[in-house]
Amino acid sequence: MPNYISIKKKIKNFNKKISVDSDKSLSIRWVLFSSIASGVSKAKNLLMSEDVVAAINVIKKLGIKVIKKNNLCKVYGKGINGYKYKNNLILNAKNSGTLGRLILGLIINSPKTIRLIGDKSLSKRDFKRIAIPLSKFGAKFKLKKEIGLPLTIKGTNNLKPIKYSETKGSAQCKSSVIFAAMRTNGKTLIKAKKSRNHTELLCKYLNLPIKIKNRKNFDLIEINKINKIKKLNYKIPSDISSAAFFIILTALSNKSKLTIEKVNINPSRIGVITILKKMGIDIFFKNKTTYKGEAIADIIVKSPKKINSINCPSNLNSSAIDEFLIIFLVAAKAQGVSYFKDLSELNKKESPRLLWGSKILNKMGVKTILKKDSIKIFGNPKLEINKKIIIKNFLKDHRIFMCCTIAALSFGGNWKIHDKDSLKTSFPSFLKIISSLKK
Ligand code: S3P
Repeated sequence: MPNYISIKKKIKNFNKKISVDSDKSLSIRWVLFSSIASGVSKAKNLLMSEDVVAAINVIKKLGIKVIKKNNLCKVYGKGINGYKYKNNLILNAKNSGTLGRLILGLIINSPKTIRLIGDKSLSKRDFKRIAIPLSKFGAKFKLKKEIGLPLTIKGTNNLKPIKYSETKGSAQCKSSVIFAAMRTNGKTLIKAKKSRNHTELLCKYLNLPIKIKNRKNFDLIEINKINKIKKLNYKIPSDISSAAFFIILTALSNKSKLTIEKVNINPSRIGVITILKKMGIDIFFKNKTTYKGEAIADIIVKSPKKINSINCPSNLNSSAIDEFLIIFLVAAKAQGVSYFKDLSELNKKESPRLLWGSKILNKMGVKTILKKDSIKIFGNPKLEINKKIIIKNFLKDHRIFMCCTIAALSFGGNWKIHDKDSLKTSFPSFLKIISSLKK
């Protein structure tokens, strides 16, 4: 099978009900929490993507038994201090920033040295942002070029609680510090810019000693030492970041309607919905429920008659951070010029997505003005592509692959999109669902 796809035709209108793959953030967190719980935790619908498999392999290397059979995964947690491994262990976070950052908070109390490695993309990413707060607890780090992977961490079982101000809106840094704080004698205080709050919701569900005060632009989190975590049985809902590709495919097509079942609509993740609604897309939720603190609903979306441009408020950035590439496609078809700002974090992802998103739009014939942390997109409601577009060498970024697929199906042209395998990172069923919409 070639590792690229060719698309030469736009998708025809559709009226369908689909479900997308399970939530990646929750899947990784379930694996990690279960690994330090006492007893056997079970998950249904665990996302079996490469990032989650990497998390499973990491906890196995730390001495935790995992059994996966059909749709059920069991993790045999050995308690909060239950990891067993030899000095100079190597852990591989592969492509996953979430795994790479969060695991550091969990191994911080071990005086043995651990080396953390990752793939080419992850090795280029910023680990200094998490090494700095974790060093304050008492761990020692060595990072490649003082910023990235490989890194070594040497923890201590005499960790001191810290005060930490998280200013980037990074849920990964916040979560890693929460994990580290669980292991100290005393109270850790975190002031965190708003970001996804799955870790906090899981702590609350597990009755862990965490207190959270929600302010307008930040959260104050207080966390104390934890002695025991009860087992965590969980049924993972679908991922809004995967649903978003299909929401936007519908938004960019004519006379289509789509229902996406049982999606996690945690308010800290649905910036994409707020932004699309502001742009005039007809989206609503049905069958809303709450599951272990997480909001879940069916999402219904209809093709709009007209798409408005947007001056996107930057307080939505964190809750839509993984969706901007495809939001830019919507802006490309909007009436007028759209503006997205304060997006420096977007260049810190699996690839520099602000920069490369702009390059892809330019290849499509869309005018942009790109600055260090902002982009203006000159929309064209009649946008049609009539040329050959080849997409390759984008650090195998799964979201770039999917974004280009949606662009090809929405605007036409003759596309060859490389690195199809990158889909395995987050959304293995992506192309199968596309095929189902064509039937
Ligand atoms: C994630 C947090 C976000 C997001 C990533 C998943 C998580 O990263 O981009 O895909 O599960 O915590 P940052 O926390 O670095 O912004």
